[in-house]
Amino acid sequence: MRQLGVKSLLAAIMAVALAASMSVSAMAALSGELEIFSWWSGDEGPALEALIARYQQLYPNVRVINATVAGGAGVTAKAVLKTRMLGGTPPDTFQVHAGQELIGTWVVADRMEDLSWLYDQEGWRRVLPEGLIRLLSTDDGIWSVPVNIHRSNVMWYIPRNLERWGVKVPTTWQEFLEIAPVLQRQGVVPLALGENWTMTHLWESVALAELGPDKWEALWRGELAWTSPEVRRTWELFGEILRYTNADAPSLTWQQATDMVVNGQAAFNIMGDWAAGYMTTTLKLRPGVDFGWAPSPGTQGIFMMLSDTFGLPKGAPHRDNTIAWLRMIGSREAQDIFNPLKGSISPRTDSDLSKYNEYLQSAARDWRSSRIVGSLAHGVVANERFMNDFATVMEIFYTSRSAQAAVNAAQAVAIQSGMVQ
Ligand code: GAL
Repeated sequence: MRQLGVKSLLAAIMAVALAASMSVSAMAALSGELEIFSWWSGDEGPALEALIARYQQLYPNVRVINATVAGGAGVTAKAVLKTRMLGGTPPDTFQVHAGQELIGTWVVADRMEDLSWLYDQEGWRRVLPEGLIRLLSTDDGIWSVPVNIHRSNVMWYIPRNLERWGVKVPTTWQEFLEIAPVLQRQGVVPLALGENWTMTHLWESVALAELGPDKWEALWRGELAWTSPEVRRTWELFGEILRYTNADAPSLTWQQATDMVVNGQAAFNIMGDWAAGYMTTTLKLRPGVDFGWAPSPGTQGIFMMLSDTFGLPKGAPHRDNTIAWLRMIGSREAQDIFNPLKGSISPRTDSDLSKYNEYLQSAARDWRSSRIVGSLAHGVVANERFMNDFATVMEIFYTSRSAQAAVNAAQAVAIQSGMVQ
């Protein structure tokens, strides 16, 4: 008996050793290319580049093509991606937001491979929040791998500038509207703003404050009409706030709007926490000392989230290399390389927070203790069809400042994009 036990133990050890050596040689054997498609270029590039460097250490024989199309929130990249996907030349993997941008766009069109088996192999169901997995799933599968959690509803400022101008961080939009003239009198733009999508980004924080989380969610379930008085009020308030933004907003990138705050031209900016990544990684500013943050006015205790993910499109030319990429980016090690540079937190519950700066540690605490809702500007609550047309709604409002025109147009867009029956 004992002898048999030793024998089978030996056999088991041999089998494990064989499997291990096979997987090591399989790793080395990966070759050819891996094309990663995203909008993380220039100032937004360092975190992705660090991930790619790690991949190259693990798979030195794969030639990685870092295919980026510049432009915040992926406005340009997503148009290029659409052409490629519909033209039958998908990249091996691409950046896509968790939620409707993934499910209501690429999964309904049957363009993605189910990754449930990878989640099982890697034990990701145990370490990723259930709510996030739900955003990546349908009844038929799990469709991408998340690398991060970003927060949308954050207000950024420079503490010593606010002191100099004699104003405090507003906790409501009413307070903001009261201090805005004080700032203007000193030649300071109260709120820095950039191009079209950053206006939608601002609007979603304003709408969240005005509607509260339950009605925000009801709007996306089609249970609250765009033409309701509550939603019209979000546009009216948004219009009042726009009076205190820079006139050249349509021509500025999000980084240029952040720069206005950093340079002391503007007091505040509402932007996702990639702004923290930009200020710490690119501008080398110290969180809590050189820049400060607060939930956007009226959204205390609420975390408006979004998540960048990568998936496996059907027909990806280098499927094995892509699976190795997806396996790696879902790991704790890779996520703790990527996120401290990116200005986001890892969705993994076992992430090592000692590697994250003060801002990100506070975001991680808020992520655990807040009411979570999904972002519109970054793909969680609406599909691509809606998002494209909503850019026009925003344009209409920015030029006409008519709340009624905006809600009428948005209601029509919601119906056309299938978001409302
Ligand atoms: C978001 C994306 C972020 C960041 C930002 C600005 O949509 O999720 O990771 O890239 O756009 O471009």
